[in-house]
Amino acid sequence: MQILLFYLGLSILLLLIAVCSSAPLSTPQKHDPDCDLNITQLIQSKGYPCEEHKVLTKDGYILGVFRISHGRNSSSSSSSSSSTAVTRRPVLLQHGLLDTATTWVMNLPNQSLGYILADTGYDVWLGNMRGNHFSRAHTKYDPDHDNEFWDFSWDDMARDDLPSMISYILNVTKHTQIGYVGHSQGTLIAFAQFGHIDSNLQNNISFWAALAPVAHLGHIKSPIKYLAPAAVVKDIERYWHLLFGSDEFLPSSYILTWLGTYACAEIIVERAVCENILFILCGPETKNMNDSRIPVYLAHEPGGTSVKNMVHYAQSIRSNLFQSYDYGSPKDNELHYNQTTPPMYSIRPIKIPTAIFWSGDDWLADPVDVSYIFDNLQSLVYEKYITDYNHLDFVWSISANKIIYTDLIDQMQKYHPPN
Ligand SMILES: *[C@@H]1O[C@H](CO)[C@@H](O)[C@H](O)[C@H]1NC(C)=O
Ligand SMILES: *[C@@H]1O[C@H](CO)[C@@H](O)[C@H](O)[C@H]1NC(C)=O
Ligand SMILES: *[C@@H]1O[C@H](CO)[C@@H](O)[C@H](O)[C@H]1NC(C)=O
Ligand SMILES: *[C@@H]1O[C@H](CO)[C@@H](O)[C@H](O)[C@H]1NC(C)=O
Ligand SMILES: *[C@@H]1O[C@H](CO)[C@@H](O)[C@H](O)[C@H]1NC(C)=O
Ligand SMILES: *[C@@H]1O[C@H](CO)[C@@H](O)[C@H](O)[C@H]1NC(C)=O
Ligand SMILES: *[C@@H]1O[C@H](CO)[C@@H](O)[C@H](O)[C@H]1NC(C)=O
Repeated sequence: MQILLFYLGLSILLLLIAVCSSAPLSTPQKHDPDCDLNITQLIQSKGYPCEEHKVLTKDGYILGVFRISHGRNSSSSSSSSSSTAVTRRPVLLQHGLLDTATTWVMNLPNQSLGYILADTGYDVWLGNMRGNHFSRAHTKYDPDHDNEFWDFSWDDMARDDLPSMISYILNVTKHTQIGYVGHSQGTLIAFAQFGHIDSNLQNNISFWAALAPVAHLGHIKSPIKYLAPAAVVKDIERYWHLLFGSDEFLPSSYILTWLGTYACAEIIVERAVCENILFILCGPETKNMNDSRIPVYLAHEPGGTSVKNMVHYAQSIRSNLFQSYDYGSPKDNELHYNQTTPPMYSIRPIKIPTAIFWSGDDWLADPVDVSYIFDNLQSLVYEKYITDYNHLDFVWSISANKIIYTDLIDQMQKYHPPN
């Protein structure tokens, strides 16, 4: 009953907003050619090599993984098969929620971490999580017809996608260790998996960096929190299924408008930014970005995920616990986990040297939530606080090169030099 009332209220609100917000479209900008290039073409157009690889997970997902094997003006060292040749060490970059591998290569070469690492001498790999634009494939299920395809959350990305990609890359490159950089969800799955009792990944990662680190979510400012209001909604999963269905997360334009009014209430930005779910959830503030580049971001984002993954985030916002997906009742959890509550994750066992870059103005990685990480992580080797970065600035800001990547690479070179 409460849910129905809330839903009715919501619908009326949405109607009002739809009627009142028919402002004129923003004036068209000069069309940037990078809007029309796919990731392969984008990377090649900047003078870098790009290979596409397919990584099969244990449970049948086929992940699109991209490789920039060397920088602009050097050739591949694997062209000769001399057994003594020193080959570039691999680094895996892992995108955040609703994002894709393209996030690392969308700016100019000296501003994008993907290119900068390649020019520094690394063999750069760009991962994609199950369900996004590049990883919408499975050996058995069709994402357009089978609900089973969308039955996953970040638990599955941590348990299977991440280790599968890392062993694939180590096998191809014949290295035993890899460096890792995660943004947002890319850090969440790392915190969940790197110290996991069932995982021996620790031996195979020499260093990792967390940009906009996420584990606890109880204090976020993102409007996603309005989709888990405890006072009104008891059963988050049912509520989300009502609003979004139960397979791919494709919010309707009404919901986007509704969330957009929260997100953009105090921030003046182009209307298109406030209609993009990635910007809405991560924060539409673009003061640290190159404004002329925003059409390129909008052309490539969002990347896509499952409703179940979003529900898992909503659960974490409410519980403020770092734990697996909650199936809702002790009986259902018992069926999935052999215990009545979802298993907890722990970051204490992580031994991999870790660098953390965080900010006071991050809508998704709030300083209060980040303090849980500092209190529990035992392998911190470096941390840097940035006062005014929002969640997407860590990958797209025009100043990220100077403020983050230079220090990140200094640290990486200590524990994981390029060759
Ligand atoms: C990008 O487009 C080119 C040309 O159509 C194609 O060969 C390539 O496979 C595409 N890459 C991806 C990742 O779709
Ligand atoms: C790479 O070579 C091109 C010419 O092929 C040159 O224009 C460019 O400045 C060089 N870039 C670097 C980073 O050395
Ligand atoms: C990045 O490259 C552009 C030219 O492509 C140059 O104008 C700019 O100064 C460079 N920035 C940095 C931080 O190196
Ligand atoms: C490693 O790669 C080889 C091909 O280079 C392949 O035959 C083998 O199955 C791979 N092993 C694993 C564990 O992926
Ligand atoms: C992981 O590291 C261990 C210890 O160095 C090594 O024996 C193993 O081959 C590595 N795994 C891979 C997939 O390279
Ligand atoms: C900002 O983006 C525009 C459009 O892509 C690009 O032409 C320009 O060089 C960028 N400026 C800087 C300083 O990055
Ligand atoms: C639960 O326990 C049963 C019996 O001990 C075992 O067969 C099953 O694999 C366990 N399931 C999980 C998810 O651990």
